[in-house]
Amino acid sequence: MNDATAIAFHDLAPGEDNFRETVLRGLASQPKALPCKLFYDARGSALFEAICDTPEYYLTRTEIGILEANAGDIAARIGPNCRLVELGSGASRKVRILLQALERPVAYVPVDISREHLRQAAARLAADFPGLPVIAVCADYTRPFELPPLSGPPGKTVGFFPGSTIGNFEPDAVVAFLKHCAKLLGPGGEMLIGSDLKKSPDILNAAYNDAAGTNAAFNLNLLERIKSELGGDLDIDRFAHVAFYNEREGRIELYVKSLADQTIGIAGRRFRCAAGELIHTENSYKYAIPEFHALAARAGFQPVQTWTDPGRLFSVHYLRLE
Ligand code: TRP
Repeated sequence: MNDATAIAFHDLAPGEDNFRETVLRGLASQPKALPCKLFYDARGSALFEAICDTPEYYLTRTEIGILEANAGDIAARIGPNCRLVELGSGASRKVRILLQALERPVAYVPVDISREHLRQAAARLAADFPGLPVIAVCADYTRPFELPPLSGPPGKTVGFFPGSTIGNFEPDAVVAFLKHCAKLLGPGGEMLIGSDLKKSPDILNAAYNDAAGTNAAFNLNLLERIKSELGGDLDIDRFAHVAFYNEREGRIELYVKSLADQTIGIAGRRFRCAAGELIHTENSYKYAIPEFHALAARAGFQPVQTWTDPGRLFSVHYLRLE
């Protein structure tokens, strides 16, 4: 049974972003852009899980494979008595591979903005790892915040940031994010980060344009959300999913494209969309190993070890503050 005493919940009350204001601001800007965090309502989260299961989207299964194949090595790097802090913990799935391998972890600290998901994931994890203190922190990890005191025998505090989410930041924002991780973890802080690698554009383009249309459904779900939550007056069939690898910038660019000259209505406002106009929804940067190390160095982190899969599709970096 669930050992409730092993869970602590620190609510740092992250401000709820106003969906309506964010959408209106994004569509009023030139070029039009909607921030990628808007993807993850309940349906969006389920569609993203479905993307992870498509044959083309190699990222999730490859990262899990790397973690499984190297769990012993990673655990040896981290050592005994660690506090493992996961930024954007979601369902806390990948961290289980680490927690199983770690020697006497002192605490698992999932950090997530989504309060109820965090509560549930923390409870499930605590039930599956009896005796492991789970100290959940509800916070927006993209903004500076502080960790609660993490008592116990001396050991490392290690940040875990899987999923190549780091690729969804602009490179300068990666440096700012890692600097704030450095502050959060304190002197001697270490991080384990998953990052997608540069590779053949064919593989990248296929991953973001799966044959079954799951990526398209996920991207266009943003318009479904606008329709249902804001009573948006728009026809989703007059928009299409666009994803392509921009080789010069080293990133997948994601857009929703207007298929016609049209005017859409949202919350009393009207927005013109030209035929072919692109509404930007996300970038997903792909870093070669030395590029990633150079970015990390700008935030004061040195590479300790990097693991990849045999196909060199994905990388997991172990970094240490110098
Ligand atoms: N964070 C995911 C990634 O960079 C997001 C993603 C996957 C995505 N497929 C998508 C975003 C399709 C928009 C459309 O891989």
